[in-house]
Amino acid sequence: MRAVHIISWIARVALMVTLVLGLLFWIAQMSLISLHILFGLLGVLSLLVLGMVAVFTRGLRLLGVGSIAYALIVLAFGLTQDMILEGNLYWLTQAAHLLVGIGAMAVALVIDKRYRHLKLASLEEKREGKLKIA
Ligand code: HEM
Repeated sequence: MRAVHIISWIARVALMVTLVLGLLFWIAQMSLISLHILFGLLGVLSLLVLGMVAVFTRGLRLLGVGSIAYALIVLAFGLTQDMILEGNLYWLTQAAHLLVGIGAMAVALVIDKRYRHLKLASLEEKREGKLKIA
């Protein structure tokens, strides 16, 4: 339970730093893209690990598959974004890239919450089972 919480925390912090670096690039034209990509990759990797843990946890399998697919979409979007909709419509690509990135933070948080909820419920069940036997 603690490991999932820490990985989710790493994912969210890395994605938040990625967001700030992206906004600095966008608004202030500061060229921090390599750092942005590095933190983005760390966030995506952490989300992939969370997705895999969820896939192997009964009750979270669907969320796990969705998270892995989502992490791959964030990655694909990031790596190809300067090739999608160039010219006047490029702002659409930028906005979508930003929203997909923010969504990744939400997915990392949801996995953490659901995993904790599931584990606490199963601990409670076990405790009740022991009380009945006694
Ligand atoms: C592995 C993941 C990621 C990669 C490879 C990546 C890559 C990039 C690249 C190459 C740019 C510059 C595009 C340009 O030249 O206009 C960029 C910009 C930006 N990124 Fe990311 N990114 C990633 C993840 C994220 C995430 C997770 C967020 C938000 C939480 C985000 C938010 C932004 C923002 C706000 C910008 C500036 C606006 C724009 O040009 O789209 N990125 N990113």
